[in-house]
Amino acid sequence: MAQVGKCFGTGAAAVRALQGITLGLARNSFVSLVGHSGCGKSTLLRLVSGLEGCTEGEVRIDGLSPAEYGRDRPFGFVFQDAALMPWKTVLENVRLPLDILGIGNAAARDAQARAFIELVRLSGFENRFPAHLSGGMRQRASIARALAYGPEVLLMDEPFGALDDFTRREMGDELLRIWAERQSTVLFVTHSLPEAVLLSDRVVVLDPRPGRVRQVVDIDLARPRDAAVRRSPQFARYVEQLESLIFGGDDGAPAPAPVAASGVPA
Ligand SMILES: Nc1ncnc2c1ncn2[C@@H]1O[C@H](COP(=O)(O)OP(=O)(O)OP(=O)(O)O)[C@@H](O)[C@H]1O
Ligand SMILES: [Mg+2]
Repeated sequence: MAQVGKCFGTGAAAVRALQGITLGLARNSFVSLVGHSGCGKSTLLRLVSGLEGCTEGEVRIDGLSPAEYGRDRPFGFVFQDAALMPWKTVLENVRLPLDILGIGNAAARDAQARAFIELVRLSGFENRFPAHLSGGMRQRASIARALAYGPEVLLMDEPFGALDDFTRREMGDELLRIWAERQSTVLFVTHSLPEAVLLSDRVVVLDPRPGRVRQVVDIDLARPRDAAVRRSPQFARYVEQLESLIFGGDDGAPAPAPVAASGVPA
């Protein structure tokens, strides 16, 4: 995307949500967006998916607009607030994209949906309606729905926000496993800086009002990101660097131990 901007409303009431966003996502990379509440993370995902149009600049995916691209290859979208169909059961919700896309026969679609329901630890709840699930369970169902049909581009807006720490860690590991297997491009929003470092190839730090790219941090840590990587000093330094970019004041006070893009301490 080049010089992308988004303004909501007009005149005195206009809200400039994003300004001058130029960002390239490498195919099959895992990129996270972090920044203060209201800095435009959700808006950016909506622009990439084509759910909202840009007011300046444009988003291109393989040379196509989001609408053109999404026609044949629907985006996987996990919304900040689960967004399941309330009148459908968990199984029907997860199966819905498979049904719409007509992937395999009915039995294969059912099996595929059940496999992803199991993966998000919701086995036994297939026939429940969203209203009868906890917030975290609804969120897991919407993760299963987004993953089940193997989208090439996966847009995830704080997908683990409503989960307890333990489940969050498990879901993160599963997501990395699926991402490594499936080869998809993931754009991931999180408020957890360790989670961003753990999952990502690159972390995009956004500044608020209007939302702009402050810095792109390449996370040069080995994969798989096992316990040794998580406990490494480099991991902690990346988290510190992000913290200082976000909370370090307007002049962007440097991280206590700056890390070069290569991951080697500068
Ligand atoms: N449909 C809309 N109409 C008007 N203003 C909007 C709309 N959607 C978002 N905004 C404004 O755009 C800005 C960015 O909102 P956005 O939801 O993208 O932030 P965010 O970074 O996702 O925040 P959070 O971390 O709280 O989810 C905010 O100032 C918000 O009020
Ligand atoms: Mg948001």
